[in-house]
Amino acid sequence: MELNSRDQGQGCKLALCSLTLVLWGVFGARALDNGLARTPTMGWLHWERFTCNLDCEEEPDSCISEQLFMQMAELMVSDGWKDAGYEYLCIDDCWMAPERDSQDRLQADPERFPSGIHHLANYVHSKGLKLGIYADVGYKTCAGFPGSFEHYDIDAQTFADWGVDLLKFDGCFIDNIQNLEDGYKNMSLALNKTGRSIVYSCEWPLYMMPFQKPNYTSVRQYCNHWRNFDDVYDSWKSINTILDWTSSNQEKIVDFAGPGGWNDPDMLVIGNFGLSWDQQITQMALWAIMAAPLFMSNDLRQISSQAKALLQDKNVIAINQDPLGKQGYCLRKVNGHKFEVWERPLSDLAWAVAVRNLQEIGGPSSYTMSVTSLGRGVACNPGCFITQLLPLKLELGFYGWTSTLKTRINPTGTVLLRLEQKRA
Ligand code: GLA
Repeated sequence: MELNSRDQGQGCKLALCSLTLVLWGVFGARALDNGLARTPTMGWLHWERFTCNLDCEEEPDSCISEQLFMQMAELMVSDGWKDAGYEYLCIDDCWMAPERDSQDRLQADPERFPSGIHHLANYVHSKGLKLGIYADVGYKTCAGFPGSFEHYDIDAQTFADWGVDLLKFDGCFIDNIQNLEDGYKNMSLALNKTGRSIVYSCEWPLYMMPFQKPNYTSVRQYCNHWRNFDDVYDSWKSINTILDWTSSNQEKIVDFAGPGGWNDPDMLVIGNFGLSWDQQITQMALWAIMAAPLFMSNDLRQISSQAKALLQDKNVIAINQDPLGKQGYCLRKVNGHKFEVWERPLSDLAWAVAVRNLQEIGGPSSYTMSVTSLGRGVACNPGCFITQLLPLKLELGFYGWTSTLKTRINPTGTVLLRLEQKRA
């Protein structure tokens, strides 16, 4: 709401602003009406960790094949991922055969998916999980497999017939922005027409942005989540640029997130190779603050117990999945960008606060803040109980309205806190 009223500028008369806010509440924030993604979607997606590995001869364990997904499905159940909330097992690019079948339908590569996607969906469902698949709005996927351009209805029906539960719809190889916009809308309508509940994961704003300002009201009406920025890589630089982009653009995007539709800063790369322990904590904490879909892209067959505990931390997941469904934001950057304070309103008047130490030199640094500055001045009025959730769970106790709170944070790390009016 703030976004809209700020955009109206100085000349906005009070009555007009109020009308705008009422209309915004009624129409503007409407989400795709498919009843799905009431909280951010959680699952596993193959792309960052397994990319487009087609070589099952040389690398049978890491090529994109039904075996990979069946193994992940088993582990998602046996190793507690499903119980922690990770429900959608998602295939990304490179699952298709190079050509459509004789009836113009997409088909899985017969060598790598010999039993077909329908069979895989049944298997995944038998484990109590859901299956996600990938396609592209243009005439080819980003990796060059058949695109869905001019095939939206038939492809949506094929996915529904197979029992698919989520579609990640990419935006490569499209001729113009009108086709991009129409394509994303038409696929949404086509999915709806099938009558099957299919989460619709878009990259529409990301592909639109270089040419035209995305219309997030429209994006939210057609998509359950949407990528705004570059692909995540397994590196600190990548995580940092995603966070920088998000804080620099928060006035444009934060208010559009809510039950049914979410900004998607891309996959969690926790448990891989590129992030230090503190950096993995930062990704988990900030993805919770941002109300981000939580799609892990890692190898569940080989993951450290530390990374597993972080990804399955129920208190952090509870922040990500908070039913109020409001995305957090960067409250301030301090001491010449040495620290950042982020916060997110939660249900029951609680708040989540994340303090980042941005320095890449030195040791742990202290940052002290007055609690009155948090949660729009109400989080600790007249007082609050504060629990540190990351890097370790610690009950910090009661803080009155005039208290200060001292945090000590490792370089590139984050301290994640939960502020509550009443102790549970
Ligand atoms: C794009 C997307 C990625 C991934 C690849 C697959 O780059 O943004 O998330 O799906 O395509 O080719």
